[in-house]
Amino acid sequence: MRSPVPDYLEEVLDGLREDRAGAVADYIPELAAAEPDQLGIALTTALGRTYAAGDADVEFTIQSISKPFAYAAALMDRGAGTVLSAVGVEPSGEAFNELSLEQDTRRPKNPMINAGALTVHSLLVGEDADPAARVERVRELFSRLAGRELRIDEAVCASELETAHRNLALAHMLRSYGILTGDVPTVVEGYTRQCSLLVTVRDLSAMAATLATGGIQPVTGEQVLDAATARQVMAVMASAGMYDGAGDWLVRVGIPAKSGVAGGMVGVLPDLVGIGTFSPRLDRQGNSRRGGRLFERLSQDMDMHLF
Ligand code: DON
Repeated sequence: MRSPVPDYLEEVLDGLREDRAGAVADYIPELAAAEPDQLGIALTTALGRTYAAGDADVEFTIQSISKPFAYAAALMDRGAGTVLSAVGVEPSGEAFNELSLEQDTRRPKNPMINAGALTVHSLLVGEDADPAARVERVRELFSRLAGRELRIDEAVCASELETAHRNLALAHMLRSYGILTGDVPTVVEGYTRQCSLLVTVRDLSAMAATLATGGIQPVTGEQVLDAATARQVMAVMASAGMYDGAGDWLVRVGIPAKSGVAGGMVGVLPDLVGIGTFSPRLDRQGNSRRGGRLFERLSQDMDMHLF
């Protein structure tokens, strides 16, 4: 017998299948090949139970959803003071690929935009860390958050690196201001490898549920993040996770969330649940169109709005 929750989720997915608005990201050539009709959702509760429906086992690249979790790694590796001196915690009000620096300090405004995430990647592990160790740090941490070993999609990574002019430009600007240190192409490559880790919505829901519990992966029981880190990550997701749409999102949906250009989204409700969704067509702000609608529906039906 199927439990009532997956049936509800199937019904919610069916209600969205006709929505073909938006377009698959094509600035990363390999992403343009994605099957656009895919649709999946998973919820993992703080007690470690997962409910899933649709394309819940399809792997896609994590992309910008890596940013909050890499931020968590940097906070733990370097301490909040060091990380804050390089990357702020203010919403930028601009698109994810704008430079968006604070005028006086030249820090990127937050770790969710590309400028901030490139800087965060360069901080991982330690000052003189090997670039490969930084990539392995996120792969290993994300694997513990997901509860299974994750791997990199080398084809998507290579494809993004061929056209990474924008991120190279952002990183060169940050290097010129002394915010980012190290070799620029190496930092961009490491960050791009971080974005190319393959996940499913089940992985994303477990990763988000680990934030919800204050750092304890609810299925494995491992304390993966410390509680202060989990809180800081959720706070920044709430204010900046949806880029220039963050305010509207918090008012309308009320679930701290982060999107990625491959079509994934994560959301988290403290103490309650982590949510992962996947649908590749994106709206104009670069967020998954049907993913956003799925979150809206859950927020309404289950009164998930934080406020
Ligand atoms: O750096 C980039 O442009 C991509 N690797 C990730 C961007 C992204 O996912 C933006 N999110 N919606």
